[in-house]
Amino acid sequence: MIKELIDSPAWLALKAHYEEVKDLHMRDLFAEDPLRFDNFSTHLNDILLDYSKNRVTEETMELLFALARQGNVEEWRDHMFSGEKINLTENRSVLHTALRNRSNKPIRVNGRNVMPQIKAVLAHMRDFSEQVRSGEWHGYNGSKIKNIINIGIGGSDLGPHVICESMKPYAQRGLKAYFVSNADATHLVETLKQVEPESTLFVIASKTFTTQETMLNAYSARKWFMDLVGNEKAIEKHFVAVTTNIELATDFGINENNIFAFWNWVGGRYSLWSSVGLTIALYLGMDHFEALLEGAYEMDQHFQKAPLEENIPVIMALLGIWYNNFFDAQSHAIMPYSQYLERLPAYLQQLDMESNGKTIDRKGHRVNYLTGPIIWGQSGTNGQHAFFQLLHQGTKPVPADFLIPAMSQNPLGMHHRVLFSNCLAQTKALMLGKRYAEAVEEMKHQGFDKEYIEEVIQHKVFDGNKPTNTIIFESLTPKTLGSILAMYEHKVFVQGVIWNINSFDQWGVEYGKVLAGQIQTDLSTPGDVSNHDSSTNGLINYRKRVYFDQIEKNKID
Ligand code: F6P
Repeated sequence: MIKELIDSPAWLALKAHYEEVKDLHMRDLFAEDPLRFDNFSTHLNDILLDYSKNRVTEETMELLFALARQGNVEEWRDHMFSGEKINLTENRSVLHTALRNRSNKPIRVNGRNVMPQIKAVLAHMRDFSEQVRSGEWHGYNGSKIKNIINIGIGGSDLGPHVICESMKPYAQRGLKAYFVSNADATHLVETLKQVEPESTLFVIASKTFTTQETMLNAYSARKWFMDLVGNEKAIEKHFVAVTTNIELATDFGINENNIFAFWNWVGGRYSLWSSVGLTIALYLGMDHFEALLEGAYEMDQHFQKAPLEENIPVIMALLGIWYNNFFDAQSHAIMPYSQYLERLPAYLQQLDMESNGKTIDRKGHRVNYLTGPIIWGQSGTNGQHAFFQLLHQGTKPVPADFLIPAMSQNPLGMHHRVLFSNCLAQTKALMLGKRYAEAVEEMKHQGFDKEYIEEVIQHKVFDGNKPTNTIIFESLTPKTLGSILAMYEHKVFVQGVIWNINSFDQWGVEYGKVLAGQIQTDLSTPGDVSNHDSSTNGLINYRKRVYFDQIEKNKID
């Protein structure tokens, strides 16, 4: 009989080991092993993962690799890459990796090789993006397209958005990319204030073409366009779609030639590698989009071929499990020391939390261990002046990833040296801490008297021993970014496999969508409602009173 995860041999071995090592301090581990950096770091191309500042010994890592082997991580990985239907609750393959397959190897879904369709869509994207970028494709009155507005949400927004933001140095001059996702009209209205209809191209990105927020924004954008241009025929020059639902996109008025397909074996949060990347191709050019795919492909190859002991996504996943399940860490922070990567935490929130925010295992049983962590973070050094205090001296353990390029794309004076020093200073301080005697010595040196030192000294002591990974790379190129995003995808995958959950559905999100539809109906008629719980009734009724009073007053005025 298969044992439950927490009663399994690998888990129990880790539990016993935790008791032995939980009080070890990293400062001592570094002192004991001058080669700790060499022993606990690995790389792929220019991407170096330094995981030496973690609360692990050689034995910890061995036990974690044993956990991965016990969970059949390698077998599940191979099932995913070969197109098996590992998304059990939706009976689907999980093949975002096929989208960036740069080899000639066929990949089959239901016995059919999907590579020809993938290549055809890539060719379509190249053809269209080149036409727009060169001006061959123009607005209804001959104007060159200067603005791309991506309308989408979740995976149809976050992936393209983080890439366009991160890759600004590669963007075509004179071309701007905007992202509208929120159902709050403010998002659309404020974006439209910045553009003219004749030079704007809307990319409606929605796998289903039914997502309420996206459809709302798409139809409002269409109305804005029609109000200003008044020519139905012009729509097809300014609206294109990225979707699996050709029929609904055509109903919207989009010319079938301008619909970029993808497939239901691509999960929303894994879709940026598909035609959902159209905005990326338009903004950066297809060559850069393909470089991104290339980088992701190289990480896929590494994930498939490198032994677990050198496998970057596997190591990151196991370290995450070590803190999540043995140290009870509730969250994991992402600190990109790169302004271009400012949106990385938001992107990773969906990737990780929508994938592994699950309580039911693959067999339909409630799990009795923690699954996916809360992902949060902000670009350094801003985070240092906001929440780092809690990391240094708070009561909660927060493992964190620090990402930094060795070279800045904006080599301005001392900026990058300052940024880099800050990044390393933080991981060093978090690891090292400051002992009582060191703090006293420091204060004495600063000239404080004994009495004052005694009064404040406890506040100046830092426990340290706070784990961090540092991911350093030469510079932030499309290829490197592709590898980094694929690295996180596989990290999340490995964790899901070990926790025995399905990382590829999102029923919780679907439930909220249904309830929103019901409440929307209740909001449209005057008079109080009483058909919900008292909190929901109270809040609906508050809004209705304000709204209908306002309508009444405006009539009177
Ligand atoms: O947030 C739920 C979700 O289903 C995501 O998985 C998806 O990325 C997003 O909605 C948008 O869906 P669509 O691309 O179909 O509009």
